[in-house]
Amino acid sequence: MDDTDGYFGESVAAGYDESSAGMFSADVVTPAIDLLAELAGDGRALELGIGTGRIALPLAGRGVQVHGIDLSRAMVERLRAKPGGDAVATTIGDFATTKVDGTFTVAYLVFNTIMNLTSQDEQVACFRNVAEHLEPGGTFVVEVTVPQLRKLPPGQNAVPFHTSATKWSFDLYDVATQAMSSNYVEVVEGKGSYWTIPFRYVWPAELDLMARLAGMRLRERWGGWGREPFTGESEQHVSVWEKV
Ligand SMILES: C[S@@+](CC[C@H](N)C(=O)[O-])C[C@H]1O[C@@H](n2cnc3c(N)ncnc32)[C@H](O)[C@@H]1O
Repeated sequence: MDDTDGYFGESVAAGYDESSAGMFSADVVTPAIDLLAELAGDGRALELGIGTGRIALPLAGRGVQVHGIDLSRAMVERLRAKPGGDAVATTIGDFATTKVDGTFTVAYLVFNTIMNLTSQDEQVACFRNVAEHLEPGGTFVVEVTVPQLRKLPPGQNAVPFHTSATKWSFDLYDVATQAMSSNYVEVVEGKGSYWTIPFRYVWPAELDLMARLAGMRLRERWGGWGREPFTGESEQHVSVWEKV
């Protein structure tokens, strides 16, 4: 990847809101905003990987001061162009290391974006960076999938998540290294395209250790933004750590 915008450059940013339309629906966004606004209280919120403002804009609309970090100028330009975009402060940089001014009562990293950091070192650095920005008692919220290794029969490394006559999407897992990728193959008017994005999958307990290394401890773990119980069948979790 040689684009300075990372994997969310102009061509992805241009279609991001449309291709993620389901994630912009009120039933997905509202419970997330409810929780984040509650945790922000009277303080400021820091979003890592703010993107086009799916969460930041409605959170700012609730009166919370939001600052976002993102690698992609193209994504942030989309946020800026939206109503209320000028009320959200942004910094271009890597959220594992980028510093911004001031302290925050809540920081959050949603929509599996912790997995965009493709090494354990970078994920640990991200927790440390967050802790440095939080006020004592401040919280860090992560929404991320539970690694779907139970869907892998022995000897296989692919989990398809969309198949149709013209489009095939699948995750590839390397269980030795925790490297994975999401892959998209599509045929439009007889012409094929392929897009792949690398991730590092990470277990809930491993995230708890990263939090401890950064001086935080687990306060809550739910199966979703609606604060559903987290169980052995949960496919994702929303976890909240607090700075001690
Ligand atoms: C899946 S999008 C999520 C955007 C937004 N949070 C949302 O929920 O719609 C991931 C975003 O994280 C950004 N990103 C990925 N890795 C990053 C990194 N290491 N540092 C800063 N931003 C990063 C991408 O540019 C992209 O805007």
